[in-house]
Amino acid sequence: MSFPDQRLRRLRRTPALRRLVAETRLDVDDLVAPLFVKEGIDQPEPVVSMPGVVQHTQESLRAEVRALAALGVPGVILFGIPARKDPEGSSADAPDGVVQQAIRALRDDVGDSVVIMADACLDEYTDHGHCGLLRADGSVDNDATLDRYASIAVAQADAGVDIVAPSGMMDGQVAAIRGALDDANYPETAILAYSAKYASALYGPFRDAAECAPQFGDRRGYQMQPANAREALDEAALDLAEGADMIMVKPALSYLDIIASLRSSFDVPLAAYHVSGEYAMVKAAAERGWIDGDAVALEHLLSIRRAGADFVLTYFAREVAEALTRD
Ligand code: PBG
Repeated sequence: MSFPDQRLRRLRRTPALRRLVAETRLDVDDLVAPLFVKEGIDQPEPVVSMPGVVQHTQESLRAEVRALAALGVPGVILFGIPARKDPEGSSADAPDGVVQQAIRALRDDVGDSVVIMADACLDEYTDHGHCGLLRADGSVDNDATLDRYASIAVAQADAGVDIVAPSGMMDGQVAAIRGALDDANYPETAILAYSAKYASALYGPFRDAAECAPQFGDRRGYQMQPANAREALDEAALDLAEGADMIMVKPALSYLDIIASLRSSFDVPLAAYHVSGEYAMVKAAAERGWIDGDAVALEHLLSIRRAGADFVLTYFAREVAEALTRD
């Protein structure tokens, strides 16, 4: 062999060669679209901090999901914004709650062609904006909250959801939900556990979209601290022992090491949530002409796949699906 040779560069010469040796691909099948549905509005309302994202009416949500289905996007995850909030988040598990209504309508529209997931949490429904029931001192009562989560999961299953996704980071939430679903005769309803959900500053735009910013304090008492990596393994192992079918890391890009570590430790489907702040940063920089937003979005999502995620929850789902099906 003569040096310098060009062993590595030889395979980068043409687009076809590069496609042939690509180790990771991003496909429409890897995308899940997070969608917001709001009670009591006549027109979809734009979310200012997330250009291109809206709070849907039931009607506009149905149109959006039909469009996603036509593009081949395999899943959506629903977040509800109720007309009224109270300390218990009582509309979260109401049979005619905003997400339950949406699940029923979407199931009618798209049948089983799209996996319908729903976030199972309380922060969108409580007037204080925390993910659980509060004690008198303002702290979140873990065990009392579990009954609420179980009831929300059963209400969503009654409406026909495929997968419930508990995002509140209460200890024991997966076991409580699995038990309640089985007792209510929903053994087929699956659980996507937000196992490694970090207390991140990147959820800001979501809290605008879901109108769920905590009215006092923050979520650091129940979400993971960004300093910790080993703890994510502990969280995921516990969720799986409690009956989770799939696990998730959230946010995605600052936590690629966590995605890679869970990938190498567990063989179940692994999701990553490319969150609102990650979306907003790309959109904001692209609007100023500082980056090529479409290219950056694809690079971000491909990197999340390369780290080991099987699928990605992303507000780019529709745009990227359009781009991938156009090529
Ligand atoms: C809680 C929940 C949040 C997100 C998803 N589920 C907000 C939070 O924990 O404060 C954030 C998602 C995003 O930023 O895109 N129900």
